Amino acid sequence: MTRLLLATRNAKKLAELQRILDGSLGRERVELIGLADVPEYQELPETGLTFGENALIKAREGCRQTGLPTVADDSGLAVDALGGMPGVFSARWSGRHGDDQANLDLVLAQIGDVPDEHRGAAFVCAVALVLPGGKEHLVEGRQPGRLLRAGRGDGGFGYDPIFLGEGQDRTNAELTGAEKDAISHRGKALRLLAKLLTKVLPAGA
Ligand code: IMP
Repeated sequence: MTRLLLATRNAKKLAELQRILDGSLGRERVELIGLADVPEYQELPETGLTFGENALIKAREGCRQTGLPTVADDSGLAVDALGGMPGVFSARWSGRHGDDQANLDLVLAQIGDVPDEHRGAAFVCAVALVLPGGKEHLVEGRQPGRLLRAGRGDGGFGYDPIFLGEGQDRTNAELTGAEKDAISHRGKALRLLAKLLTKVLPAGA
């Protein structure tokens, strides 16, 4: 059994990755633990300019502090009309970290004059895996779509109510959790990670 650290305190992310790993690796191969399960350490600020850099910063530090193979993710919304922003600043775009409504309202206001045909956007999720021997891997998932002019739906979080995925007639906030996982940036990145883990984790370790 290999212990794998997911460098997060978010119980929902742990459960989501565990579900995906169980589906593709089999529970007996990987025991997934979170930051709450290892001795506390000072987490580094997310100073990268890309999702991949931030995911690597967090995964490297987790591996250095615990000696465990470590996975970390970073994600956000890239809006075409804003040159890819909010990007790595998605969680704090309004200046207040984690204020989902203020962040969403600011993006809507900023692109208020942008016509429908130029309202393309994508959710992006980078997932890094750092192994104790120093090997590093990075995978990325994207959900392309466009932004509406007002929110719809109560599910999901963050920018989900204003995001209509490509080929969808419901916003991400109108999808069930399972429907969103099947097409989301995070679902795609985590499934790529699961595939990678089957190759790089020692069998039966
Ligand atoms: P984090 O990677 O969990 O820190 O997410 C960064 C920010 O990106 C969140 O606070 C949200 O604003 C935005 N974000 C990331 N993934 C999603 C999603 O699936 N739906 C809506 N917003 C998201």
